[in-house]
Amino acid sequence: MIDFIPASKMEILFSKEQIAERVQAVGRQISADYAGQSIVLVGVLKGAAIFLSDLARAIEVDNTFDFVAVSSYGKGTRTSGAVKLIKDLDLPIEGKNVLIVEDILDTGLTLGYLRKMMLQQKPKSLKIVACLDKPARRIDPIEADYVCFSIPNHFVIGYGMDYAEKYRNVADIRLMPPEQGGH
Ligand code: IMP
Repeated sequence: MIDFIPASKMEILFSKEQIAERVQAVGRQISADYAGQSIVLVGVLKGAAIFLSDLARAIEVDNTFDFVAVSSYGKGTRTSGAVKLIKDLDLPIEGKNVLIVEDILDTGLTLGYLRKMMLQQKPKSLKIVACLDKPARRIDPIEADYVCFSIPNHFVIGYGMDYAEKYRNVADIRLMPPEQGGH
């Protein structure tokens, strides 16, 4: 059992101001790419909830939300490799412009699975937006179409991202020290 380490003791990787700036820029890029069209933003719970809420407000084109949930890292920082759908889409996406919104693209297993699952429903287009990209850890060769920040292989918390379900509410993105379970 690890004692609770206050996030204020962890090093800031990206401050809330830096995050806001990048989210606005990515929102502008998406608005330009989809000008005159509608998009369905599909957030991957729970990590992407905060990113999606900021990104949606930075996008000017017509958009709606949906959410899916998949099995994740559970209580630790390591993935089991297996991805299971826990919550499906509420609405059909056939013929729609879909943008999957994810907190981190890491091994790519989650997005690889979700992409395949959603393509079966024949959307008009399907793109991926990730707040963070960790290219060094990729197993499934998935690339995001929009990324706020690309980072080395560090375990991070905050801005929706957790360690054992904690720290999602932290406003900055911070580095989890290795001795506390990060890597
Ligand atoms: P992937 O399937 O390995 O790409 O894993 C993606 C998911 O793993 C993300 O949506 C996160 O929930 C989780 N994850 C990966 N790296 C981190 C991290 O550094 N901090 C918190 N969660 C992470």
